[in-house]
Amino acid sequence: MCGIVGYIGYREAYPIVIKGLERLEYRGYDSAGVALYDGEEVHICKTKGKVSDLKEKVEGAVAITGALGLGHTRWATHGVPNDVNSHPHQSNSGDIVIIHNGIIENYASIKQELTKRGYVFHSDTDTEVLANLIEEVMKIEGVKLGKAVQIALKEVVGAYAIAVFDKKKPDEIVVARLGSPLAIGIGKDEYFIGSDASPFIEYTSNAIYLEDEEMAIIRIGREVRVRSINDDEQIDINIQNLKISLEQIEKKGYDHFMLKEIYEQPSAILDTFRGRLLPNEGIIKMSGIEDNLSKFTGANRIIVIACGTSWHAGLVAEYLFEDIARIPVEVEYASEFRYRNPVIKRDDVVIAISQSGETADTLAAIKLAKSMGAFVFGVCNVVGSSIARETNAGAYTHAGPEIGVASTKAFTTQITVLTLIALRLANAKGTLSTSDYKKCLFDLEAIPKRVDEVLEVNNQIIEIANNYSNVSNCLYLGRKYNFPVALEGALKLKEISYIHAEGYPAAEMKHGPIALIDEQMPVVVIATKKGNYEKIVSNIQEIKSRNGRIIAIVTQGDTMIKEMADFAVEIPETSEFLTPLVATIPLQLLSYHIAVMRGCNVDQPRNLAKSVTVE
Ligand code: AGP
Repeated sequence: MCGIVGYIGYREAYPIVIKGLERLEYRGYDSAGVALYDGEEVHICKTKGKVSDLKEKVEGAVAITGALGLGHTRWATHGVPNDVNSHPHQSNSGDIVIIHNGIIENYASIKQELTKRGYVFHSDTDTEVLANLIEEVMKIEGVKLGKAVQIALKEVVGAYAIAVFDKKKPDEIVVARLGSPLAIGIGKDEYFIGSDASPFIEYTSNAIYLEDEEMAIIRIGREVRVRSINDDEQIDINIQNLKISLEQIEKKGYDHFMLKEIYEQPSAILDTFRGRLLPNEGIIKMSGIEDNLSKFTGANRIIVIACGTSWHAGLVAEYLFEDIARIPVEVEYASEFRYRNPVIKRDDVVIAISQSGETADTLAAIKLAKSMGAFVFGVCNVVGSSIARETNAGAYTHAGPEIGVASTKAFTTQITVLTLIALRLANAKGTLSTSDYKKCLFDLEAIPKRVDEVLEVNNQIIEIANNYSNVSNCLYLGRKYNFPVALEGALKLKEISYIHAEGYPAAEMKHGPIALIDEQMPVVVIATKKGNYEKIVSNIQEIKSRNGRIIAIVTQGDTMIKEMADFAVEIPETSEFLTPLVATIPLQLLSYHIAVMRGCNVDQPRNLAKSVTVE
């Protein structure tokens, strides 16, 4: 889950590559490096730390001219984050220069073989091994770079997105991918390379997304040539015209991408049901569902596979599909599902949820489910991502680029898509009366407005955060649809403020966690009117009687819980099945403000990365 960038053309490569790395830094940020070819020499500069540290080092040290450049921002897998293990890496002769995102699982045996042949290694990385393997193939086979990369990659086991150039042939870059994403930006007399389009979207909106086991030779003055690595076939290139704007990937005046993305939720939810939700006509239109309706309505069960926040959206789907469409659902951690030797029946439907569309465990779980005959439907945010292409059908969330590592608008737009599907299936199966169905459509249509209203609690949340920014633990409780919201609230606090937090079904408290309650333990309770209100009130009394400190998320006008709680945040009322879309917002804001007050790097929390493309 590193970020790779490349440029070859007529402009100065350095400014393009360095800005590209800044855009991709959310993918990994423990070290960074660039390689520039100035027409004679290759200049490599790399450092432990962030792209800002690299800029300082480069601009103080090396000649930064040249129209050929590669850049890399790293999330370490092989070799600790330090200068030597940072990318780019070079072969022993210095001719082959490479950057890589992914893991080469059999690098040790290749390294051993190359060492026997006299190669020396300066770093602990798998990538340096690949650079020398390519050099060895060129020497032994007497072939050019493109062919050598192809031959070398056939030896490799694992995942990769690579960009390589040969100092002796500086008018071309060779790229290849298996498992990790790679996009090529097509300009006039210039080409760009990126893990996604963000490094080059300001220069061109024409892009090629490489498929798995494909490689491309990018040479100035010639069209890009794409070949399949294994059977060496020429592949017709498919240039896509991208619909994302530069503006969408900038901060728009907010202090952090996370806060901007929290405030983008009303429009993101609206964009997600635009053209799909037609309450006046009483219909929901989603081609991926319509084309496969009988698979869903005839499904023995629905299995949801996902990781992290997307898994929490899957849990909300479990309540939605069982409650509204009466279809049994199982929600699986993709990483466990793929190794549990799961029982999958032919008429099982699998729904895979992923913001990035690149999460390795989810991708592998999809492949397993498909190999066992299941129909796999994807819910993704990144157009053209691996998961979007691997699934049989799907629906995009239209949240726009999500750059903050902590997922916010992707979560609510995932729930929006899953709600649309559940309602459509309920309508198809007749599990909702026509009038109830119509009411649900209008209630959903009103959600962007409700979320707008909730965002007005921001100042109150800042006050609450002030009281809790120094705690070391926190509990989140909810019932029914609010249980996954409690889990999500806890995850948000954990991942950006580093406070230990746990989400629980409120009734589960009595079976253990209540032992944790004392005046030090803040407890966030999602206690909306709809969803076992009386039960949640008694849960709050249990906590109060042990001096727990309560932050309650309540329905507007609720005075009872307001009197019991230390803090009560009022949110607008909506249908019970839509509560997660409203109740999640204050929890996102709470974790954000607490993290800011603790001086944490909100957009790039330690030890995390935006998409986990390795196991
Ligand atoms: C959430 O804030 C985290 N970034 C993480 O848990 C994330 O949800 C998980 O890695 C899954 O990512 P995906 O949706 O891109 O597959």
